[in-house]
Amino acid sequence: MKEMIVVLDFGGQYNQLIARRVRECGVYCEVHPSETSVEDLAGLSPKGIILTGGPNSVYAEGSPLCKKEIFEMGIPVLGICYGAQLIAHVLSGKVKTAPVSEYGRTEVTVNDKSVLFKDVKSTSITWMSHTDYIAEAPSGFEVTGHTLNCPVAAMEDTEHGLYAVQFHPEVSHSEEGFKILGNFVRDICGCSCDWRMDSFVETSVKDLREKIGNGRVLCALSGGVDSSVAAVLLSKAVGKQLTCVFVDHGLLRKNEADEVEAVFGPDGHYDLNFVRVNAQDHFYEKLKGVTEPEKKRHIIGEEFIRVFEEEAKKIGQVDFLAQGTIYPDVIESGLGKSAVIKSHHNVGGLPDHVDFKEIVEPLRMLFKDEVRKAGLELGIPEHLVFRQPFPGPGLGIRIVGEVTAEKVKMVQDADAIFRDEIGKAIQNDPSWKPAQYYAALTNLRSVGVMGDERTYDYAVALRAVITDDFMTANSAPVPFDLLTRVTERIVNEVSGVNRVFYDLTSKPPATVELE
Ligand code: XMP
Repeated sequence: MKEMIVVLDFGGQYNQLIARRVRECGVYCEVHPSETSVEDLAGLSPKGIILTGGPNSVYAEGSPLCKKEIFEMGIPVLGICYGAQLIAHVLSGKVKTAPVSEYGRTEVTVNDKSVLFKDVKSTSITWMSHTDYIAEAPSGFEVTGHTLNCPVAAMEDTEHGLYAVQFHPEVSHSEEGFKILGNFVRDICGCSCDWRMDSFVETSVKDLREKIGNGRVLCALSGGVDSSVAAVLLSKAVGKQLTCVFVDHGLLRKNEADEVEAVFGPDGHYDLNFVRVNAQDHFYEKLKGVTEPEKKRHIIGEEFIRVFEEEAKKIGQVDFLAQGTIYPDVIESGLGKSAVIKSHHNVGGLPDHVDFKEIVEPLRMLFKDEVRKAGLELGIPEHLVFRQPFPGPGLGIRIVGEVTAEKVKMVQDADAIFRDEIGKAIQNDPSWKPAQYYAALTNLRSVGVMGDERTYDYAVALRAVITDDFMTANSAPVPFDLLTRVTERIVNEVSGVNRVFYDLTSKPPATVELE
């Protein structure tokens, strides 16, 4: 039987990351809701259980708690942040509001005799985010880590296989975090760490053929990595039984719609039916006068589904609706305890009026990097597989304030220049390659001078970030001469723009996108 670690979700922002890191250690991992019963947990036969962080205090009314029996199953448990406090609380230790709440990079000192901290530096930087803290470890526990302000930054009861850390080992800012998770799954849970996803494509194609038989499949293709990999997988499995509908909502990057058509359309590489819908004007009309970011997101998501439905009606009854849902979407929409920072466009929106019997989600158990691996195995061109992420609502959330066709043109042109210049520069020196980079149009108009004329035009914001996981990010050290060149090109080549800013803010407190 496949070895598995179960992550119990208490609503923290980084929960998916924990599962991803565990899979990177070579152990299959699933995320389940915090209220999963002890019997259901036992039924999953996990080799270990991880309790995640969360936004609550163990004392607050309605906070998710866990049953003491979880700690008596004979399965090793690691509590992280809120999960650590929960272990202390449930086992009669003391959790208190900290006199000083810790947030961000924090030095922690650990006892390197602990198996959890095997080969870990005794003092290292970790990522903290808490207002409560463990004031006193429960009886039977040894304190194995502390910080300046936190007396119990780590504790363990080795006899019962219970471990707790106040910091977040899953976040890349925690220098030794990956090693600590590795120690937990390998040395404490006894996992052999040999899970790999090599056979994913082969098994999926076989399973999809069996499931779909002679049925017809409809797939919404965005040109992004997930829907592209799902479409190619389905095309490999059932060929022309698959129809892909590609909605151009007029909020794509410059030339992007044509590029998608070149790959997936009739002159492209794959055996499938391809339908392109040019719905630009429809979206601009719906977005007229709307300035509130969440409202814009909602309209774009909603209209996307309506347009897709209209097209699907023309195709008639299909047997399956394919979606490029990936595991983070499943976790976010299924568990949904984390605070909503932004409502993501690709989560949970399903057309009500498409006539289909069943949904197929071939990527539903994969994380993004795993989807990319599958894409390469399927022979999808590298420029598509390693495309930088692009949000579902597209340029709609990169234009601060009202969206108009004119503003879309400005941001497309500015963005094309920035991507072109960065692309050329990182070919020569990939060492500072940002994970994501784009131009946005701010809502700021300011006075400038062009020739002898006064201008009153828009300001473009350039954003380039370095990140492993998009949960936290730093601004990329884009060389100054490159920024200068891009700025000159934008103000000269893009009409309506007379000023360019570079956004130096990290996430948090900012986010990657402006809206
Ligand atoms: P934020 O702005 O939340 O972005 O820091 C983190 C990452 O998510 C992408 N993003 C989205 N992706 N639908 C998506 O598919 C969305 O609605 C959406 N909003 C943000 C963003 O580009 C970045 O990579």
